[in-house]
Amino acid sequence: MEPEYKRVLLKLSGEALAGDKGFGINNEVVNEIAVAIKKVQEIGVEVAVVVGGGNFWRGRTSEGMDRTTADYIGMLATVMNAMALQDALENIDVETRVQTAIEMKEIAEPYIRRKAVRHLEKERVVIFGSGTGNPYFSTDTAAALRAAEMEAEIILLAKKVDGVYDKDPVLHADAKKFNELSYIEVLQKELKVMDSTATSLCMDNSIPIKVFELTTENILKAVYGENIGTIVH
Ligand code: GTP
Repeated sequence: MEPEYKRVLLKLSGEALAGDKGFGINNEVVNEIAVAIKKVQEIGVEVAVVVGGGNFWRGRTSEGMDRTTADYIGMLATVMNAMALQDALENIDVETRVQTAIEMKEIAEPYIRRKAVRHLEKERVVIFGSGTGNPYFSTDTAAALRAAEMEAEIILLAKKVDGVYDKDPVLHADAKKFNELSYIEVLQKELKVMDSTATSLCMDNSIPIKVFELTTENILKAVYGENIGTIVH
Protein backbone atom coordinates (compact mmCIF):
# COMPACT_ATOMS: atom_id res chain seq x y z
CA MET A 1 0.00 0.00 0.00
CA GLU A 2 1.34 3.42 -0.99
CA PRO A 3 0.93 6.46 1.24
CA GLU A 4 -1.56 9.00 -0.03
CA TYR A 5 0.73 11.99 0.45
CA LYS A 6 4.31 12.95 -0.28
CA ARG A 7 4.52 15.85 2.18
CA VAL A 8 2.34 16.48 5.22
CA LEU A 9 2.16 19.08 7.92
CA LEU A 10 1.44 17.61 11.33
CA LYS A 11 -0.06 20.00 13.84
CA LEU A 12 0.36 18.89 17.44
CA SER A 13 -1.49 20.76 20.12
CA GLY A 14 0.44 21.53 23.26
CA GLU A 15 -2.21 19.74 25.32
CA ALA A 16 -1.53 16.58 23.36
CA LEU A 17 2.09 16.64 24.50
CA ALA A 18 1.03 16.86 28.13
CA GLY A 19 -0.90 13.58 27.95
CA ASP A 20 -2.88 12.82 31.08
CA LYS A 21 -0.79 15.18 33.16
CA GLY A 22 -2.59 18.12 31.57
CA PHE A 23 0.44 20.35 32.02
CA GLY A 24 4.03 20.35 30.81
CA ILE A 25 5.61 17.64 28.74
CA ASN A 26 4.85 13.96 29.20
CA ASN A 27 7.98 12.19 27.99
CA GLU A 28 6.19 8.97 27.22
CA VAL A 29 3.72 10.77 24.99
CA VAL A 30 6.44 12.74 23.23
CA ASN A 31 8.47 9.57 22.66
CA GLU A 32 5.41 7.87 21.19
CA ILE A 33 4.78 10.77 18.85
CA ALA A 34 8.43 10.63 17.79
CA VAL A 35 8.06 6.94 16.94
CA ALA A 36 4.95 7.70 14.91
CA ILE A 37 6.74 10.44 12.99
CA LYS A 38 9.66 8.08 12.32
CA LYS A 39 7.26 5.50 10.90
CA VAL A 40 5.68 8.08 8.62
CA GLN A 41 9.10 9.10 7.39
CA GLU A 42 10.15 5.51 6.82
CA ILE A 43 7.38 5.07 4.29
CA GLY A 44 8.76 8.00 2.33
CA VAL A 45 6.54 10.84 3.49
CA GLU A 46 8.12 14.19 4.28
CA VAL A 47 7.00 15.58 7.62
CA ALA A 48 6.84 19.16 8.80
CA VAL A 49 5.53 19.79 12.30
CA VAL A 50 3.93 22.80 13.95
CA VAL A 51 3.62 22.58 17.71
CA GLY A 52 1.27 24.47 19.96
CA GLY A 53 2.08 25.64 23.47
CA GLY A 54 -1.12 25.20 25.44
CA ASN A 55 0.49 22.70 27.82
CA PHE A 56 2.54 25.55 29.24
CA TRP A 57 0.50 28.62 28.55
CA ARG A 58 -3.03 29.52 27.57
CA GLY A 59 -2.39 33.06 26.41
CA ARG A 60 -5.93 33.94 25.54
CA THR A 61 -7.30 33.19 28.96
CA SER A 62 -4.67 35.11 30.89
CA GLU A 63 -7.08 37.65 32.31
CA GLY A 64 -5.84 41.14 32.70
CA MET A 65 -2.63 40.56 30.78
CA ASP A 66 -1.89 42.51 27.66
CA ARG A 67 -2.87 40.31 24.72
CA THR A 68 0.36 40.84 22.84
CA THR A 69 2.46 39.90 25.86
CA ALA A 70 0.34 36.83 26.51
CA ASP A 71 0.72 35.74 22.89
CA TYR A 72 4.50 36.16 22.98
CA ILE A 73 4.70 34.01 26.12
CA GLY A 74 2.68 31.42 24.21
CA MET A 75 5.15 31.54 21.34
CA LEU A 76 8.02 30.87 23.75
CA ALA A 77 6.07 27.88 25.10
CA THR A 78 5.91 26.36 21.61
CA VAL A 79 9.71 26.54 21.35
CA MET A 80 10.05 24.41 24.50
CA ASN A 81 7.78 21.82 22.92
CA ALA A 82 9.69 21.97 19.63
CA MET A 83 12.97 21.31 21.43
CA ALA A 84 11.52 18.41 23.42
CA LEU A 85 10.17 16.83 20.26
CA GLN A 86 13.47 17.33 18.45
CA ASP A 87 15.28 15.63 21.30
CA ALA A 88 12.88 12.66 21.25
CA LEU A 89 13.27 12.31 17.47
CA GLU A 90 17.04 12.49 17.60
CA ASN A 91 17.09 9.84 20.32
CA ILE A 92 15.65 7.45 17.77
CA ASP A 93 17.94 8.66 14.98
CA VAL A 94 15.55 10.85 13.07
CA GLU A 95 17.34 13.86 11.64
CA THR A 96 15.49 16.96 12.74
CA ARG A 97 15.76 20.70 12.36
CA VAL A 98 13.91 23.24 14.48
CA GLN A 99 13.18 26.62 12.92
CA THR A 100 11.65 29.49 14.83
CA ALA A 101 9.65 32.39 13.46
CA ILE A 102 11.14 34.62 16.13
CA GLU A 103 14.88 34.60 15.81
CA MET A 104 16.67 32.96 18.75
CA LYS A 105 19.61 31.59 16.91
CA GLU A 106 21.49 30.20 19.90
CA ILE A 107 18.60 27.76 20.28
CA ALA A 108 17.44 27.02 16.77
CA GLU A 109 17.65 28.06 13.16
CA PRO A 110 15.62 31.06 12.17
CA TYR A 111 12.73 30.32 9.84
CA ILE A 112 13.89 30.43 6.23
CA ARG A 113 11.40 28.95 3.83
CA ARG A 114 13.86 27.72 1.22
CA LYS A 115 16.06 26.11 3.86
CA ALA A 116 13.06 24.39 5.43
CA VAL A 117 12.06 22.98 2.04
CA ARG A 118 15.60 21.68 1.51
CA HIS A 119 15.56 20.01 4.91
CA LEU A 120 12.34 18.24 3.99
CA GLU A 121 13.79 17.14 0.66
CA LYS A 122 16.76 15.73 2.56
CA GLU A 123 14.36 13.67 4.65
CA ARG A 124 14.73 15.72 7.80
CA VAL A 125 11.78 16.42 10.01
CA VAL A 126 11.33 20.17 10.30
CA ILE A 127 9.68 21.46 13.46
CA PHE A 128 8.41 25.00 13.38
CA GLY A 129 8.43 26.85 16.68
CA SER A 130 7.07 30.21 17.88
CA GLY A 131 3.97 30.13 15.72
CA THR A 132 3.90 32.77 13.00
CA GLY A 133 6.00 35.08 15.18
CA ASN A 134 3.07 37.48 15.46
CA PRO A 135 0.61 38.12 18.25
CA TYR A 136 -3.10 37.66 17.41
CA PHE A 137 -2.30 34.58 15.32
CA SER A 138 -2.77 31.07 16.67
CA THR A 139 -0.50 28.11 16.12
CA ASP A 140 -3.31 26.71 13.94
CA THR A 141 -2.77 29.70 11.69
CA ALA A 142 0.96 28.96 11.80
CA ALA A 143 0.15 25.42 10.66
CA ALA A 144 -1.93 26.72 7.75
CA LEU A 145 0.75 29.23 6.79
CA ARG A 146 3.64 26.77 6.94
CA ALA A 147 1.61 24.14 5.10
CA ALA A 148 1.04 26.64 2.29
CA GLU A 149 4.69 27.70 2.24
CA MET A 150 5.99 24.11 2.31
CA GLU A 151 3.37 23.09 -0.27
CA ALA A 152 2.24 20.33 2.05
CA GLU A 153 -0.70 18.39 0.63
CA ILE A 154 -2.62 18.18 3.87
CA ILE A 155 -2.67 19.35 7.47
CA LEU A 156 -2.93 16.49 9.93
CA LEU A 157 -4.56 18.03 12.96
CA ALA A 158 -3.93 15.61 15.80
CA LYS A 159 -6.15 16.38 18.78
CA LYS A 160 -7.48 14.90 21.97
CA VAL A 161 -10.87 14.26 20.36
CA ASP A 162 -11.40 11.94 17.42
CA GLY A 163 -12.84 14.42 14.95
CA VAL A 164 -15.15 17.39 14.61
CA TYR A 165 -18.51 17.31 16.40
CA ASP A 166 -21.55 19.56 16.19
CA LYS A 167 -21.08 20.33 19.88
CA ASP A 168 -18.51 19.53 22.54
CA PRO A 169 -18.55 15.71 22.88
CA VAL A 170 -17.11 15.93 26.38
CA LEU A 171 -20.09 17.96 27.60
CA HIS A 172 -22.84 16.51 25.38
CA ALA A 173 -23.45 12.78 25.10
CA ASP A 174 -25.59 13.30 21.96
CA ALA A 175 -22.90 15.24 20.06
CA LYS A 176 -22.66 14.11 16.43
CA LYS A 177 -19.39 13.59 14.61
CA PHE A 178 -18.91 14.84 11.05
CA ASN A 179 -17.08 12.68 8.54
CA GLU A 180 -16.61 15.48 6.10
CA LEU A 181 -17.07 19.25 6.15
CA SER A 182 -16.46 22.15 3.82
CA TYR A 183 -14.41 25.13 5.01
CA ILE A 184 -17.51 27.31 4.70
CA GLU A 185 -19.51 24.97 6.94
CA VAL A 186 -16.77 25.13 9.56
CA LEU A 187 -16.86 28.92 9.42
CA GLN A 188 -20.65 29.27 9.30
CA LYS A 189 -21.38 26.74 12.02
CA GLU A 190 -18.51 28.18 14.05
CA LEU A 191 -17.19 24.69 14.64
CA LYS A 192 -14.13 24.64 16.79
CA VAL A 193 -11.80 22.88 14.38
CA MET A 194 -9.40 25.74 13.90
CA ASP A 195 -9.95 29.43 14.40
CA SER A 196 -11.44 31.32 11.48
CA THR A 197 -8.14 32.88 10.37
CA ALA A 198 -6.53 29.45 10.01
CA THR A 199 -9.61 27.96 8.34
CA SER A 200 -9.81 30.82 5.81
CA LEU A 201 -6.14 30.50 4.99
CA CYS A 202 -6.65 26.80 4.27
CA MET A 203 -9.75 27.55 2.22
CA ASP A 204 -8.01 30.21 0.11
CA ASN A 205 -5.10 27.88 -0.59
CA SER A 206 -7.11 24.64 -0.92
CA ILE A 207 -5.29 22.84 1.86
CA PRO A 208 -7.37 20.00 3.30
CA ILE A 209 -7.38 19.45 7.06
CA LYS A 210 -7.73 16.02 8.60
CA VAL A 211 -8.79 16.10 12.24
CA PHE A 212 -8.27 12.97 14.33
CA GLU A 213 -7.30 11.70 17.75
CA LEU A 214 -3.57 11.66 18.31
CA THR A 215 -2.35 8.06 18.33
CA THR A 216 0.53 6.45 16.45
CA GLU A 217 -1.87 4.24 14.56
CA ASN A 218 -4.04 7.20 13.56
CA ILE A 219 -1.14 9.24 12.25
CA LEU A 220 -0.24 6.34 9.97
CA LYS A 221 -3.84 5.79 8.92
CA ALA A 222 -4.16 9.47 8.08
CA VAL A 223 -1.04 9.33 5.92
CA TYR A 224 -2.42 6.31 4.07
CA GLY A 225 -5.59 8.31 3.40
CA GLU A 226 -7.83 6.08 5.50
CA ASN A 227 -11.22 7.33 6.52
CA ILE A 228 -10.66 8.38 10.12
CA GLY A 229 -11.73 11.47 12.02
CA THR A 230 -13.11 14.36 10.00
CA ILE A 231 -11.84 15.81 6.75
CA VAL A 232 -12.34 19.51 6.06
CA HIS A 233 -11.90 20.40 2.40
P1 GTP B 1 22.47 21.34 4.77
O1 GTP B 1 23.32 22.53 4.54
O2 GTP B 1 21.31 21.26 3.84
O3 GTP B 1 23.20 20.05 4.88
O4 GTP B 1 21.72 21.56 6.18
P2 GTP B 1 22.29 21.57 7.65
O5 GTP B 1 21.14 21.99 8.49
O6 GTP B 1 22.94 20.29 8.06
O7 GTP B 1 23.41 22.66 7.56
P3 GTP B 1 23.86 23.78 8.51
O8 GTP B 1 25.34 23.81 8.40
O9 GTP B 1 23.05 25.00 8.22
O10 GTP B 1 23.43 23.30 9.98
C1 GTP B 1 24.19 22.44 10.77
C2 GTP B 1 23.56 22.38 12.14
O11 GTP B 1 23.52 23.68 12.71
C3 GTP B 1 22.11 21.88 12.13
O12 GTP B 1 21.87 21.10 13.28
C4 GTP B 1 21.30 23.15 12.19
O13 GTP B 1 20.04 22.96 12.82
C5 GTP B 1 22.20 24.03 13.02
N1 GTP B 1 21.98 25.44 12.69
C6 GTP B 1 22.04 26.03 11.48
N2 GTP B 1 21.77 27.34 11.57
C7 GTP B 1 21.55 27.60 12.87
C8 GTP B 1 21.22 28.78 13.64
O14 GTP B 1 21.06 29.88 13.12
N3 GTP B 1 21.07 28.60 14.98
C9 GTP B 1 21.22 27.40 15.58
N4 GTP B 1 21.04 27.32 16.90
N5 GTP B 1 21.53 26.29 14.92
C10 GTP B 1 21.69 26.38 13.58
